[in-house]
Amino acid sequence: MEHKDPSQTVAWGLLREHARAVSAAHLRDWLSDGAQRYGQFAVSEGELIADFTRARATPETLTLLSQLADEMQLDACVAALFSGELVNNTEGRAALHTSLRASGAQGPIVAGMDVGRAVSDAQAKYLRFAESVRDGSRTGSSGKSIKTVINIGIGGSDLGPRFISAALSAKGTASSRDYPTVHFVAGLDGQELRAALADADPASTLFIICSKTFTTLETIANANAARAWLTRSVSPADVHFHFAAVSVNSGAMDAFGVADDARFPLWDWVGGRYSVWSPVGVAAAIAIGADAYRELLHGASVMDEHFRSRPVNSNMPVLHGMLAVWQQNFLGLDQHVVLPYDQRLTTLPDYLQQLWMESLGKTVRCDGAAVKYATGASLWGNNGSSAQHSFAQWLHQGAASASVDYIGTAVGAHPDDADVHLQSLSNMLAQAEVLARGHDVAGHKGHPGNRPSTLLLLKELTPCNLGMLLAFYEHSVYVQSVIWGINAFDQFGVERGKQIAGDYAALMAQQDESQLPPVARQILNWRKM
Ligand code: F6P
Repeated sequence: MEHKDPSQTVAWGLLREHARAVSAAHLRDWLSDGAQRYGQFAVSEGELIADFTRARATPETLTLLSQLADEMQLDACVAALFSGELVNNTEGRAALHTSLRASGAQGPIVAGMDVGRAVSDAQAKYLRFAESVRDGSRTGSSGKSIKTVINIGIGGSDLGPRFISAALSAKGTASSRDYPTVHFVAGLDGQELRAALADADPASTLFIICSKTFTTLETIANANAARAWLTRSVSPADVHFHFAAVSVNSGAMDAFGVADDARFPLWDWVGGRYSVWSPVGVAAAIAIGADAYRELLHGASVMDEHFRSRPVNSNMPVLHGMLAVWQQNFLGLDQHVVLPYDQRLTTLPDYLQQLWMESLGKTVRCDGAAVKYATGASLWGNNGSSAQHSFAQWLHQGAASASVDYIGTAVGAHPDDADVHLQSLSNMLAQAEVLARGHDVAGHKGHPGNRPSTLLLLKELTPCNLGMLLAFYEHSVYVQSVIWGINAFDQFGVERGKQIAGDYAALMAQQDESQLPPVARQILNWRKM
């Protein structure tokens, strides 16, 4: 793939000029003819609609963004992603998360491996395992069914399965009480693990160590603590009944003593933050059931097909990603806020934060050149209702501004709550309108408005629709990375942090603090006073 500086393209120059005209207009001026605007700016796929009508954009903006996509060879880059080319060029790897949800063992051959076959074999194994835990046939060392499942992982080995379990497991229903309780433990300081173990019986507890590398400090510390807890009542020879693991690192799984039938592979062509579709999802599959998990995968594959086949102006992840570039590089918005208006989606911003910020937090292009334009807005958010009573004031009247994604469900979680669900939806619409139109009065009560948002509405929160939504965000991120010419699949910054922390920990354990940076020594001295 030819590496280009996007700011040197013809389209970039035209967009810069066009931005001046757009800045002179107000979003409210474009919202008066709803039907026409909706026809131009709303795109649907199955039971998901993306309404871009409140983007600070005109049809001409979309034409110019499409030209930019052409000049940056977006189509070829999308084809490269799906076909297993080494799109993660700094690590010489493919990024084949789409093959994890392709139906019928489809996938390219990468470094001699039949990806489709590897995925379908692994999927059959981990989903069978998940069902055996869920239906009680998988037992611990004493023959008791598993009642408590604890996923130990962090980052991509935690956030995805944690979010999906929270979003899709029907807590509080009669049937949910029969299934194992699934906990997620990521934190290093022992508190989360302690809380998960509070009511657990070792004889009916299963730990899943989820770590692509099997070297991550937090995960290994928690896995060791879990083993120590178990061996207080389970013989060391039987501990293997209580562990499963997901990793690329089979040597480390051997060393930890993970049994063959409870270990699941991962591959270097799956990035941590793109891995929820892989065996990393096993805890989620236990929480929601293998059938629901398959529907989730199917939904993601529907979005993959949409992404590959739709033209720019009806392609929701392409539009979302291109508008993110437009908002950041031409309208100067460096923050992106995600506000789900459905309690089940409350932790979606946490999940998206890693996907978006670990992928786009880069300032060097794939060809090694420093970028000369902004990349990767910061992404944050919370449940929309709570946000309205905390930081939404900043969104409406703050000096800085942000773009927003409002996410809702047309049908709520429970029929008895239909009236409050309607209120929640009306709040979401009101927020989007106020943000766009503002309130044109002088003084303290005036809102500037003209702040862009996208409204994403799912008919219902089904596994399939959720799969579509998550794949939509993955592809939006990829689109942005292609336009900026950066690698969405490496994360050298966080890796360096991990390495330095390891060095410091070793020095501190040996009480040899003289080699720590001078100011770090000061604070450690203070700690001892
Ligand atoms: O913290 C950065 C990171 O490297 C993430 O990219 C990754 O998802 C996480 O650590 C966990 O890594 P692993 O799955 O190897 O334990």
